[in-house]
Formats: sequence, C-alpha cells, structure tokens
Amino acid sequence: MKAAERGGKRTVSNAMKAGNAELAVVIMAAGKGTRLKSQLPKVLHEVGGKPLLEHVIRAALQIVPAENVYAIIGHEAERVRSAVQHTGVNFVVQAEQRGTGHALMAARAALAGYDDVIVLSGDAPMITPATIEKLRDFHRKEKAAMTLLSAELENPTGYGRVLRNRARSGEVREIVEEKAATAAQKRLREINSGFYVFSVKDLYGHIERLSTANAHGEYYLTDMAGVLRKAGRRVVAWKTETPNEILGGNTRAELADIDQQMRLSKCRQLMADGVTVFYPATCVIDADVEIAPDSVIEAYVQLLGKTKVGTGCRIRSYSVIRDSEIGDGVSILPGCAIEESKVLSGANIGPYSHLRPGSEIGEEAHVGNFVETKKVRLGKGSKANHLTYLGDSEIGSKVNIGAGTITCNYDGVAKHKTVIEDGAFIGSDSTLVAPVRVGKGAYVGAASCITEDVPQDALAIGRARQVVKEGWIAAKREKK
Ligand code: UD1
Ligand code: CA
Repeated sequence: MKAAERGGKRTVSNAMKAGNAELAVVIMAAGKGTRLKSQLPKVLHEVGGKPLLEHVIRAALQIVPAENVYAIIGHEAERVRSAVQHTGVNFVVQAEQRGTGHALMAARAALAGYDDVIVLSGDAPMITPATIEKLRDFHRKEKAAMTLLSAELENPTGYGRVLRNRARSGEVREIVEEKAATAAQKRLREINSGFYVFSVKDLYGHIERLSTANAHGEYYLTDMAGVLRKAGRRVVAWKTETPNEILGGNTRAELADIDQQMRLSKCRQLMADGVTVFYPATCVIDADVEIAPDSVIEAYVQLLGKTKVGTGCRIRSYSVIRDSEIGDGVSILPGCAIEESKVLSGANIGPYSHLRPGSEIGEEAHVGNFVETKKVRLGKGSKANHLTYLGDSEIGSKVNIGAGTITCNYDGVAKHKTVIEDGAFIGSDSTLVAPVRVGKGAYVGAASCITEDVPQDALAIGRARQVVKEGWIAAKREKK
C-alpha cells in the first residue's frame, strides 16, 4: 500500500531516501513497571537525564522518519504521550496490558501496509541505531519471518533464553522465559534482548496463535518464535557483539547501572574532545550538554539539560548548572546553583552563588558568596560579592553592589523593577525599594533604605543619623 492510500500520513519519499520504504518501528511502552514500585510509569523513569522511552525514540528516528514510528502506550497513556509528544512519533493505545504479544496485537491496524516492523522495548535505552541497522540488514539477508537480537551474557538470569536448532543451521526453535525454563535451559547464556524484526504479514498472519497459558497469564511476543517455526516460517537470531546495549531498566538498581554507564560514556566523549574531567564517576553530565575544549570540570559537578560551557572555564566541585550558557574563561567556584541563566566570558561566580532563571551576568562581572539573582542583567565588570539579593533588576557596567544589598522587588502584590546605572556604588546593607532608579555614577550610603530615585552623580543617604550620648554607660554603672 502506498502512502496516499493510508491517508497520505507518511511521506514515502522520505522513507525511500533512508532506504527504508515500508519499514515501521514499534516501541513497546505500555507496561506499568511493577518492579520499580513507582507512581511514575517505567518508561518515564530517567537515565542520562532523559526518560527511558525518549532514548529509544531517538534511536528509532535515526532509522526511519517520525511518521513511521509507533509508540505503544497504555499504563498512564496520557502522561507518557505528553512526555514524548515533541518527538513527533505516532501513538497506539493498548488499553489493557496483557503482555508484549498483546501489545503487538494492538498495533495491527497501524502496521497494515508495512512490509517489515522493527520492535524495540521502551525500557531498554542503550540500543544504538548501528545495532538496529545490523539487525534489519540480517533480517533482510536471511529472508526471515522473525529475527531476534540475542546476546551472550555472563549472567543470563531473568532473560528469555534462545533455543537453537543445531540441525537447521542454528535457526531459532523457540524462546523460553526464565520462569518456564528447565535447569538445563537456565544454563544457556544466549538470551533474547527484546528487540526484533518481523515480516508484518507473517506476524499478523499467525499472532492469533499466541496463548496466555504461562506463568504470567500474558500473551508473550517471544512465543511468536515457536509459533512461526511450527508454521514452517524462518526464525533467526543475530547475536550482538555489544551486549551492553540491551540492558533494560526493570528495577531501580538496573536504572542506576544504566545511568552510570551513560554518564561515564558522556564524560569519555568530552575528554576525547579536549575537556578535562576530574573523577568522571562523580560527575553527572546530561547527554545534550556541550563543553568546549580546555575547560576543566572538577569532581561532583552536575551539568544538566541544554547547558553549554565555553573554552577555558573551570567549574569547581559541587556546582549544579541547568539549562544555562557559560561563556569562555568563566570561573565557577564551589557550590553554585545556576538555572536558565547566562554567564558571559571572564565572569567569576561563587563560591555559593545562586543564579535563578533569567540572570545574565556580564563579561568579567563578579557574583560572590551567598548572592542570589533572578531576572537580572548585571553589566560588564560589575560586582556583587557578598550576601545579596538582586531580583527584577537592570544593572549597568562597573557597578559596585555592597555586601548585604537587597532589591525589594515585591510589594506583596506585584513585582517591580530596580535600575542601577553604570558606575553607581551601592553601600553595604542597603535596601532598594522598587520601582526605583539609581542614576549613573550615583552613590548610596551604607544601610540606606532607598525609596525614591537617585539622580546621576548624587549621594543618597536614607538612614537615621547616628546619636552619641557621652558618658551614658558610665552614669548607668554608677547608679547600680
Ligand atoms: C522481555 C522478554 C524477554 C527478554 C526481555 C529483554 C517477553 C515475554 N519477554 O521480558 O524474553 O529477555 O524482555 O529485556 O516479551 N509492554 C507493553 N505492553 C504489555 C507488556 C509490556 O507495552 O502488555 C512493554 C513494557 O512497557 C516494556 C516492554 O514491553 O517496555 C517489555 O516488557 P517487560 O515486562 O519489561 O518484559 P521483560 O520481563 O523485560
Ligand atoms: Ca524489560
């Protein structure tokens, strides 16, 4: 069937370009993930900073265009759909989750018209496009009805085992699940990865033969091997040389293991690209983070989301940076928290600074100990070194913000803006009650409460005058 007959949903030209005409990818993602004991559906648990399912979708999108990808959702379907909708893939709802075979039954109508379907597991995020392509090519070369990806594991416990037919040049006889395996079968180390390619015609021509007569009372997709073999169809297995890729996140321990492997491989990639990473095992760096060469990432640093770091930076221990842009030659001292902010080249941040969303710290500016910023532009070479809150503010260049300065941006109802122009000097322990403006080169005396605008080059003092009472203490002492 051509695209037009399917309502023109797929653009055949795209699929043809990729050499994948009439090839679909199905991702099974409807299960609950009972072993995780979680409110969150299994495929939304994160590794490497992204949900399991999103990793699998990304791999699929390297093989076929989004319109050929079908995620089978069921448990908390709407939650799963909205989490990955941005990828543009299609969704098939498996309303009741009665097993992996049942999941494919639910996809029958969606797959009508495709020649072959690649089946991936939404809980196995390490799979690479290269391996999927090798599996697809092996399937085509073997002209098989079903081709499964197998792996040789040191410890095969928990996985389905692959039974081969030696007499028929290693064709697959059947897959036995762990619970149904005999002691001898449990010793087999070749396991079923849960990734397959099927001829769509063969799959749906025989899928009705699956039964629920097994330990879980489910329709097992794995039983298709025996079903197709008995129907005289060809079932083969291609053994991967990279068994790591098949790891699934069924338990919290497995999720931790996968996460650690992804983080380490990200660090290795960064190091290969010229970034120094101290104690990589302690760093948490998300897959999409970019760091230019000759930057140094110290131990126990987290770089998350879409964070970008320039060249020649040093990010010291215990800093957590999310969705932020760090320029070149920036120094981030220990213990900083930075979110959705920009730090321009040559700036110094920390120790213990908190840049909240919308902060832009200018070139060579300094933000120091226990300074919190939010929706602030701090100009070039300006300094806020100690114990300060700057919110909803526009601050020019070469401004000095004294220790303990507070912009009072909230009147209990609405937020207001503070403007501090170039070269101004704010004395320590001042409060600036917004909306308020401190003009160019103006001074604010220490401990002032500024409620009115300060003109350019003026000095504003807003505090009680000091009173000295000579001999007052001595007199009091004498009275006693
Ligand atoms: C499955 C295989 C097993 C293989 C292992 C590899 C079966 C019966 N067993 O076991 O041979 O060694 O993968 O990791 O297939 N799902 C649905 N709908 C359902 C049930 C499950 O979409 O009704 C989805 C799950 O969300 C999951 C995937 O299918 O993403 C695999 O299901 P899971 O229960 O994790 O199967 P395994 O026990 O790992
Ligand atoms: Ca699994």
